[in-house]
Amino acid sequence: MNDHATLAQRADALEEKMSRELDYIVIKSRLYSLAEGDLNPPPNANALMAANPNARVLMGDDPRLPPMPEKPTLMDFFKYRFGPSAHLLQSARHAVNAGLPEKMVLACLLHDISTIGFIRGDHGYWGAQLVEPYVDEEVTWAIRAHQVLRFYPDESVGYEYPKSYVKAFGADYRPDQYVEEDYQRMRNHKWYMSGRMITVHDIYSFDPNVHVELEEFTDVIGRNFRQPEQGLGFDNSPVAHMWRAMIRPAKYL
Ligand SMILES: [Fe+2]
Ligand SMILES: [Fe+2]
Repeated sequence: MNDHATLAQRADALEEKMSRELDYIVIKSRLYSLAEGDLNPPPNANALMAANPNARVLMGDDPRLPPMPEKPTLMDFFKYRFGPSAHLLQSARHAVNAGLPEKMVLACLLHDISTIGFIRGDHGYWGAQLVEPYVDEEVTWAIRAHQVLRFYPDESVGYEYPKSYVKAFGADYRPDQYVEEDYQRMRNHKWYMSGRMITVHDIYSFDPNVHVELEEFTDVIGRNFRQPEQGLGFDNSPVAHMWRAMIRPAKYL
């Protein structure tokens, strides 16, 4: 093979790579731009497609992300979409060691799935909504409640306001009014202590030496999470579209 051929091959390979890169155009949802403090209008998809005739906006799978099975399970979301889950796994193990009932172990395992997979702000409300059709009502309630109860101490179970919050939010931080109002409602609720238990087992300091595998909870999930036969996102539940948003977060429409 002479040098020319090699150069030509390299050029072909480069061109092929470039055309592949122009195969799709990502137009992000408004929420992502707002989170960047960007109020500009989105890029004009039509103009981009006119400049790159081969390119299309994303309507199918996102080539940048690992493919999901056709009928994704909760475990698949942990594996292919969620960020690091050591905090949730350690929290669930902590709940097991404390002898909590299985459904509360599940609540601890899932309490922050919105933080690691969807939306951070109000993550307890989002997380509760994501799992509502598939778990015991008390689990949903507790996940929602942990969002609120984490800001309020309860001496009866040794829960203090987290020191890390003083550092992260400032000593003068006070929860928003709607959080305060929810707290007043939640502390008198029959499931108050279930929500409180999540905060007790919400381990704020990660132990880098403790390694917990998701598979440790396969049976707990199997017995307490009603995995839809059609897969999360495709079961026609009121929250199916929220799971689909994690499968294809840059879907154009
Ligand atoms: Fe949380
Ligand atoms: Fe947490």
